[in-house]
Amino acid sequence: MGQGAVNGGSLDSLPSDSVLFPWPCKAIERPTDMEMQMSKLVTIFGGSGFVGRYIARRMAQKGWRVRVAVRRPNEAMFVKPYGTVGQVEPIFCNIRDDASVRSVMTGSDAVVNCVGTFSKGGKNNFYAVQHEGAERIARIAAEQGVGRIVHISAIGADAESDSAYSRTKALGESGVLAHFPSAVILRPSVIFGPEDGFFNRFAKMSRLGPILFLVGGDTRFQPVYVDDVASAAAKGVLGEAKPGVYELGGPDVSTLRELVEVMLNVIKRRRLVFNLPFWIGSLVGVGFDAMQAITLGLFTNSVLTRDQVRSLRHDSIVSDNEKGFSDLGIKPVALEAVIPNYLWPYRRSGQYAAIKESAKNLRKT
Ligand SMILES: NC(=O)c1ccc[n+]([C@@H]2O[C@H](COP(=O)([O-])OP(=O)(O)OC[C@H]3O[C@@H](n4cnc5c(N)ncnc54)[C@H](OP(=O)(O)O)[C@@H]3O)[C@@H](O)[C@H]2O)c1
Repeated sequence: MGQGAVNGGSLDSLPSDSVLFPWPCKAIERPTDMEMQMSKLVTIFGGSGFVGRYIARRMAQKGWRVRVAVRRPNEAMFVKPYGTVGQVEPIFCNIRDDASVRSVMTGSDAVVNCVGTFSKGGKNNFYAVQHEGAERIARIAAEQGVGRIVHISAIGADAESDSAYSRTKALGESGVLAHFPSAVILRPSVIFGPEDGFFNRFAKMSRLGPILFLVGGDTRFQPVYVDDVASAAAKGVLGEAKPGVYELGGPDVSTLRELVEVMLNVIKRRRLVFNLPFWIGSLVGVGFDAMQAITLGLFTNSVLTRDQVRSLRHDSIVSDNEKGFSDLGIKPVALEAVIPNYLWPYRRSGQYAAIKESAKNLRKT
């Protein structure tokens, strides 16, 4: 297999099975025509999302045919070059509908479910997607005799939680296990990578003014690299992971405030980081939720929901009671090795920040 170094990046500093995409990346090993004819089929629900696309790419590299089952296949065409012609296909599916799931899953050897939401309202809400949708996929997979299922949940999944996100994640897990007891369930902490909604969001916010407001600044996270989650999912599909629950966290545990400070350091911006009390966070969340309701969804609350504030009260770190990366033989990548590769556009001078810095030193001498 050849290795590629794009944009001056190098793979040498990363574990050998790590694929940084679309930054430093390994060249795709193309399966032969014969392998393609004989290859197995995996259907990835939500395979165009942040996590799903990395799983799709990994399975294509393994020579599997990949169906990317999403509601907007026309917006998922970017997955096609992950494999040879016809190997990776976006296909319409809505996991809220039995017939749609049944049709897209036909003939699959394995199934991965990466569909999730942060929205409590509308048709694609927590219950419809994370509970009923997840259970529907497992039920139909069992009916169709699919060999393996990998389900992406989240750390904090708890049927007793005050957060609907965490509650429906727990209901989804039980629904999956009721129909498919040999499922592999992955519970990641917060996930980082070029398309993440975490560091990118805080980096965007930091461009707006001198103060960054946080809710839950003392809450602890264990950020995990998106391709490490994909690697774990691929092992589930390939039968290299024992059935059961795996909690996935990166090598380091940090508070939200510490993570934001790391991000600010990477983008070379100085900001006052101000931690708001939870009760103020709840009021802000209620306000933005109300705006979404009043505008009948024309405004989507992607700033802060009341449910997110409830989740932020709890740490998102792996527990000692569940399996993890070590049981899968995966060494997770550290945050600092990856985020500079994609957060540089938020620097004042973008890709020229380093050169400007060194020019400044030249003038001094
Ligand atoms: N990102 C994180 O930090 C994080 C942390 C812990 C756990 N997780 C979990 O990891 C999983 C993947 O997260 P993500 O960040 O990759 O999510 P994402 O980027 O929002 O992707 C969601 C995917 O699901 C598809 N989808 C949504 N509703 C659908 C429906 N009704 N039927 C079919 N497809 C549907 C979307 O495509 P269309 O819109 O075209 O349908 C998209 O491909 C989720 O279960 C999430 O809860 C994520």
